[in-house]
Amino acid sequence: MTQRFVLAIDQGTTSTRCILFDQRARLVGVAQREHHQHYPRPGWVEQDAMEIWRNVDRIVPQALRDSGITADQIAALGIANQRETTVVWDRRTGAPIRRAIVWQDVRTEELVREFEEKPGADRIRELCGLPLATYFAAPRLRWLLDTIPGLRDRAERGEVLFGTMETWLIWNLTGGIDGGLHLTDVTNASRTLLMNLATRTWDAELLSFFGIPAAMLPRIQPSIAPYGTTRRVVPGIPIAAALGDQHAALFGQTCFARGETKCTYGTGGFLMMNTGSELVQSKHGLLTTIGYQIGPEPVYALEGPIAVTGSLVQWVRDNIGLVASAPEIETLARTVQDNGGCYIVPAFSGLYAPHWRSDARGLIAGLTSYITKGHIARAVLEATAWQTREVVDAMNADSGLQARALRVDGGMTSDNLLMQIVADVLDVPVMRPFNAETVSLGAAYAAGLAVGYWPDLEGLRNNWRLAAQWLPQMDPIHRADEYENWQRAVQLTFGWLR
Ligand code: G3P
Repeated sequence: MTQRFVLAIDQGTTSTRCILFDQRARLVGVAQREHHQHYPRPGWVEQDAMEIWRNVDRIVPQALRDSGITADQIAALGIANQRETTVVWDRRTGAPIRRAIVWQDVRTEELVREFEEKPGADRIRELCGLPLATYFAAPRLRWLLDTIPGLRDRAERGEVLFGTMETWLIWNLTGGIDGGLHLTDVTNASRTLLMNLATRTWDAELLSFFGIPAAMLPRIQPSIAPYGTTRRVVPGIPIAAALGDQHAALFGQTCFARGETKCTYGTGGFLMMNTGSELVQSKHGLLTTIGYQIGPEPVYALEGPIAVTGSLVQWVRDNIGLVASAPEIETLARTVQDNGGCYIVPAFSGLYAPHWRSDARGLIAGLTSYITKGHIARAVLEATAWQTREVVDAMNADSGLQARALRVDGGMTSDNLLMQIVADVLDVPVMRPFNAETVSLGAAYAAGLAVGYWPDLEGLRNNWRLAAQWLPQMDPIHRADEYENWQRAVQLTFGWLR
């Protein structure tokens, strides 16, 4: 019998990857292409949705070709994607009406402040689980509707369509102007500020609050659901699942039980804790979101996004010249025993979870003439660890559960010292699986489950293999003192931007 495979597309912030997995979750083929980032003004970040679509059109055949696998060997396709990035396109021509506005873009700051003053603002978190912030899609969509002449009328007539990246790709893959399907999944929809978390439908009150015409919105489906069959790129493949990338990572890390928690360390850090069937309203600065939905009922999650983790290392490399390459930060940090009293809070554009302070700006605190490059390097790594600790504390407090371990993935997990410090400050084991491609794997798992390629969650769990583990070693009194110092440094960043 011919061997079959599952294909995943991971449409990320900086690049798009296509990965093929076999039944034992081994990576058997991969192709990747970066796309351009456009920064037309300070705080604005844009991408060309057409360029991203063209990249998909190239990498899928390339991954198949390079691995010698044919389209009829693909059991299913799963899509994971950068969330909140907003695209609006013309249904008739298939052309985006302008460049996509990326999740990091803060052009809607003023608009968000206006929304904060509007009656009904206090209902938002209760309805959709999110705070009102520039991070999410609705203010961006509203900005487009306000800025582009005639767009609102066209949106009301259903002539232009809204989507995040999975919606854009699914529409194109399933035919584009020739009958493409306009669909999204619950996890991506849960990041728009427009979906009711309890009913998992577009919420009339939120649509009216943000002034968004329902006619331009995609239909919301569970993460595992029929998303059509590809008619373009490589025709005939069932698209069986879609998830936001961080949700896919939760799934790929097989965090299927309540309390299981993962963190993906990239330019930022994204923590997510499975809270099961319970929709936990956060009182400690987290987001309530849908972890995934593979059956009739969703699995909820608490999320704590951290804006700056790996990008702090990039910053000390590129802007300060502290190190020549990112891995050197570990070597430099190992030249000292501790931080020497120095703390860096990388609030470059405010702080995300659990503080949500857009008025915070970064600082280096505790400088004395004793401080060396080594101490600074150490403080750089500790900044990621303490930010992780703040989010995990908030998760434990909100959920009443206890994260007993942290499953990690992403580029920064190759830094052994950092992972040790994370274990030390959290006082729980930190575990990294062999398969570090957790986002793609999560999308593949969901798609594979949908078509019976993998039988059940238990089977997926068995694929999770421990590659490295770091156990806490820090003295509890030292940990408490250090945490207090960190928290004092964080307080100093608040209100810097007047
Ligand atoms: O919320 C934004 C997140 O989904 C982006 O993830 O890995 O594409 O930077 P990534």
